[in-house]
Amino acid sequence: MLFDSYKLDSKRLDNRYVVAPMTRISAEADGRANDRMKKYYQRFAKGGFSTIITEGIYPDRTFSQGYNNQPGMATDIHADAWKPIVDTVHEEGSILIAQLMHAGGQSQGNAYTDETIAPSAIPPKGEQLGFYGGSGTFQTPRAMDDQDFLEVKEDFVAAARRAKAAGFDGVEIHGANGYLLDQFLTDYLNKREDEYGGSVDNRLRFVLEVVDEVLAEVGEDFIIGIRISQGKVADQSH
Ligand SMILES: Cc1cc2nc3c(=O)[nH]c(=O)nc-3n(C[C@H](O)[C@H](O)[C@H](O)COP(=O)(O)O)c2cc1C
Repeated sequence: MLFDSYKLDSKRLDNRYVVAPMTRISAEADGRANDRMKKYYQRFAKGGFSTIITEGIYPDRTFSQGYNNQPGMATDIHADAWKPIVDTVHEEGSILIAQLMHAGGQSQGNAYTDETIAPSAIPPKGEQLGFYGGSGTFQTPRAMDDQDFLEVKEDFVAAARRAKAAGFDGVEIHGANGYLLDQFLTDYLNKREDEYGGSVDNRLRFVLEVVDEVLAEVGEDFIIGIRISQGKVADQSH
């Protein structure tokens, strides 16, 4: 079955091999994708993977960036920089899905601000990742207020819109590995006492709002997925 063709939404794919998203911090300091990244993605497409999910891409110019030299989808300049990569992958017959990632409290390198935000003012467990240039524990994030809720949703939607316009075949919303949306799902990081914390339904609420808004904006003829996990990159015991 791995080598059978199948249909994912409207796309006919040659096989079921998918490249998992892998952060590589090889973009320009201002978040533009570059030729080095094009060669990297082209190799997977040439190798025959029907589907490639990009490394985690930050959606806004405020709090979402997690690592220095991570690529962005926060501006039209960012989106334009991805176009040659999208074109190359399509020329090789594969599809490309943009993984949109808000690092939340697990940010360790952000060109736009020194502050971090999260569901509650509780830092992630564990330490920053040394191979991505971090060291020591994480700072204490600011608990998100009403304005942050609106902005984070709008920024995911805007980034998805840019990805679609740049020719991507879909987006994967990063709800895993300890980043912002996973922080909402995690009981020891989400101590909110409003409708976004407490019960499982409440902890799911923000994640589902993001998904719904992205679907409403770009859902037609565009693949939309979400990644969830039980692990966290900074804390392998959870
Ligand atoms: C260097 C590296 C970077 C990764 N970056 C991401 C990422 O940006 N987004 C994500 O969802 N997962 C990321 N992951 C997790 C992988 O997608 C994958 O789930 C993980 O490596 C487990 O699969 P494996 O056992 O085949 O390695 C990363 C993994 C590695 C090794």
